[in-house]
Formats: sequence, structure tokens, C-alpha cells
Amino acid sequence: MAEYYINAAQKMGKINKEIYGHFSEHLGRCIYEGMYVGENSDIPNVNGMRTDVVEALKEIRVPVLRWPGGCFADEYHWKDGIGPKEKRKKMINTHWGGVVEDNSFGTHEYMELCRQLGCETYVNGNLGSGTVQEMSEWVEYMTFEGVSPMADLRAKNGHPEPWKVDFFGVGNENWGCGGNMTPEFYANEYRRYQTYVRQYSGGAETDRSIDNPQMIRKIACGANVADTEWTQGVLKTLFRHCDPRFHGNTEGLSLHYYVHPEGWDIKGSATEFDEKVWYKTLAKAHYMEDLINMHGAIMDQYDPEKKIGMIVDEWGTWFTVEPGTNPGFLYQQNTMRDALVAAITLNIFNKHCDRVKMACLAQIVNVLQSVLLTEGPQMVKTPTWYVFRMFRDHQDAQLVSSCIETQTIGEEAQYMVPNLTESASVDKDGRLLITIGNLSAAEDYPVNTHITGFDAKKVSAQILAGQMTDKNTFDEPDTVKTQSCALELNEGNLSFTLPAHSVITITLEQ
Ligand code: AHR
Repeated sequence: MAEYYINAAQKMGKINKEIYGHFSEHLGRCIYEGMYVGENSDIPNVNGMRTDVVEALKEIRVPVLRWPGGCFADEYHWKDGIGPKEKRKKMINTHWGGVVEDNSFGTHEYMELCRQLGCETYVNGNLGSGTVQEMSEWVEYMTFEGVSPMADLRAKNGHPEPWKVDFFGVGNENWGCGGNMTPEFYANEYRRYQTYVRQYSGGAETDRSIDNPQMIRKIACGANVADTEWTQGVLKTLFRHCDPRFHGNTEGLSLHYYVHPEGWDIKGSATEFDEKVWYKTLAKAHYMEDLINMHGAIMDQYDPEKKIGMIVDEWGTWFTVEPGTNPGFLYQQNTMRDALVAAITLNIFNKHCDRVKMACLAQIVNVLQSVLLTEGPQMVKTPTWYVFRMFRDHQDAQLVSSCIETQTIGEEAQYMVPNLTESASVDKDGRLLITIGNLSAAEDYPVNTHITGFDAKKVSAQILAGQMTDKNTFDEPDTVKTQSCALELNEGNLSFTLPAHSVITITLEQ
């Protein structure tokens, strides 16, 4: 029996809704086919955006969408993607599959997609191969309200009103595909480029924290996995000779971490794996917590008040592509194992919401750990989609103190995991949401709650369960889906059994 203690009166901080964010790159069939099919497609669409996909994404309340990359961002020249579509420049997407990019999805289309989704915008600028002027003009094009060359151009292209850019990434993976820079070199470049990412409203006294929605919140490129030298080098240079009020002129520092069960070179199949690989994958997902602590400790040295957000804007599983698909398209299936990776990771982010202010799953449709897969007019919701739906009420809720008794399980000494993962929050309507995952490949576990600070009168629960390798396909789209689960309150507490490899979400009302 796992004893589970929750003190709903002890609030630990706000779980920013942006922790449930997504990432979309000009990569494979993520944007083209996956979300954007064009106005003339037979696939039902609104202004070119697939209706089925937009509806499914609205159901999980996508809070923010990062675009246009990824590695693509540092090769993207935004002016290629505006104006009449027939005149837009065609280019080769050298990073991803060497296919022709016709630029029919550009700034206006991205803003339209975000409008339909009702989500915030996170635009990633090109520092690696672009110029300061180009980046500056893009921000002017998108956000300036008055009379200016870029605002006039935007109006000429059919959108007189400015858009809101909520987050702006100043380069991507500049330690690698974004220019192979050293941390100090990047940080100096960041200082220069970000100066011209103009905030057209507010003044020097504007609250520059990641939590101020009035700002264009600038995100500096952070580390890959455990590269603490990068974090240290970037922060040292950002904070050197700068007004401390502006905390290095940055509101967020990114972190990228992917789970490859068999390492970067081999990766491993998305759908065929045994118990050993199951645990290896989940142990690697758990490593996210070590990374947050590792980089967080360095951020604390420079920013003890935690004004700079840790932005995990690329995370998820990265397996070998589905047989017969373009290796450059990164198309992979998604199983109950991905559901557990998502549950583990999102619970970790919730628990670290004092520092983790945004995260973006890579990538939203048809690429890596997607929430949706499409094939022509068909679409399936992946097990990961279900986890995002089950966790959606954590968005903007208050994390509360919670702790569950765990056992360490696994098959190999270096890949042991706790058997259970959990987090709990109270939302603005006073409901208590609990999300728990059972990581075991074989064992069911009974759980017994001890809830204080909350007088629960009503309970509802949803469970996602199945075999480890269960997945949804175009022929069988409903193999993995949530089921309602009848739980009974006993003096405000619950006792229930969580099946092996399952995720449960429980909502309690007073
Ligand atoms: O998500 C795929 C790629 O992974 C992104 O383009 C890049 O930023 C990362 O290496």
C-alpha cells in the first residue's frame, strides 16, 4: 500500500499554463499536412488550418505554440514567408529531409493558427544566420502599432492590426545547429540581438519578469542536456556589466532534453520494446529532474529571486523513425510508454514550477512525441494527447504540497525508477486535481490518500491504461483512451488500486 499525503492548504506556487506548451517546426509533416493544408484542400479547414487538428488541440488547451524551429529557425528568413503565396520564395529545407519549403506557411499563417487555437505566441528568431536588422524588423512587423516601414508592409499584406508576440527566442541551439558557438560568444551575440527586439510599450521600469504578460518575453538559448558549462558561460556573460534590474536582459533561458532509450545513435523502436527498455526509457525521462536541479542551481547563483524562467522548450521521446518513412521527417508512433514519459515529465515540471515557467513538447503533430498523428484526411489522438488532456486542469493552478511513498523498481541498476509519480494542485475554482502514474511494467499498486486542508465531498476520475506497447493507429484509433473510473470517498479520502503502466487523474470538489 502506498500512503499518499496531500496538504491542499500548503500552496507551493503557480503552475504556469505555459508548462503545457507545444513546439511546431518546419519539419516533416508537422506544419504542412499536419496542421496546415491550405485553403483549397479537400480536408476540412478554416483559412487553411485543419479543423480536426485545431479542434483536438483546443481540447487539450494548448497554451502556447513555439515556431518556426528548432534548427529551422536559424535558417529561416521571415520575409520569404510573407506577401502573395505564389510569389513566395521556394527553398530547400536542408536540415529536415532536403524537401522544398514553399513558404506558404509564414508569419500571417502562424498568427492565424494561434488565433484559432486561442494560444499565446512564441516566435523563435534567427541569430545563427540572420542579421540584427532582420530580427529587429520581424519584431517591428509583428508588433508595431504606429506608422513605420514594417507596420506599413504588414498592413499592405492584409493585417493592419499588430499581433501580440508573447515570447521571442533569440536563436536556437546556438551551441550546435544554430551556429556552433561558444557560450560566451553566443551570450555576447544575444546581448546585441536582444537589444533590438523592441518592446514598443512600457518603459525601463516595466516588470521584466517572465510572468509579466505585457512584455515580449525574450528567451536566451540554454543548454543541451547536462551542459552546465554552457549555462554558466551564458549567464556569466549576460550578467556582466549590466543593470541588475534587467537580470541580464533576459526573461527565460531554455533547456533541451530528449529521451533516446538506446542513445543518440541507435535511439530504438517507438513500438517494439521489452520491459528492460521500458524502464530504461522511464529512467531517462526521470533524468529531467536532475537536469532542472543542475541548471537551476547555476541560475540561482545569478538570479536567486527566480525572475528568469527555465524554459524547457524541447522535450519528449526521440525514437527511430517509423519503417518506410523519410528519416529526415522524424515521424514516430506513440505508445503507453510515451504516456508515462509525459506523465513523469509533467509531474516534474509541476513540482518545479518555481523555476520551470514554460515547456514545449516536441513536436505537436507528426514529429517525435506528437499529441496527434495524421495521414491524409485521417487523424488519431496519441496516448500522449490523453495525458495532456488529463493534466490540463493543472494549467495556472496552485501546486500544493504532496508526497507519495514509493519503491524503487527496474531491471538494471543504472535504470531504476520510483514506482509512482504524482503531483497535486488546486485550481481557481477550488478543485483539487491529482495526477498519478504507475511506472511498473507488471505490478498494480494500491494507493491510500491522506488529504488535509480540503474537505472533499465529490470525486471524479479518469484512467489511461493498457499494455506497455499499446498505441492508436489509423485502423484502430481507440485502443488507448481514457475511461471513467468510479472512486468512492471515505471521510474525504480515497483508496484505490492503480494498474501497471497506467495514469490516473482525480478531481475532488468540496
Ligand atoms: O525537434 C527536432 C530538433 O531537435 C530541433 O530542430 C532542434 O532544436 C533539436 O535538436
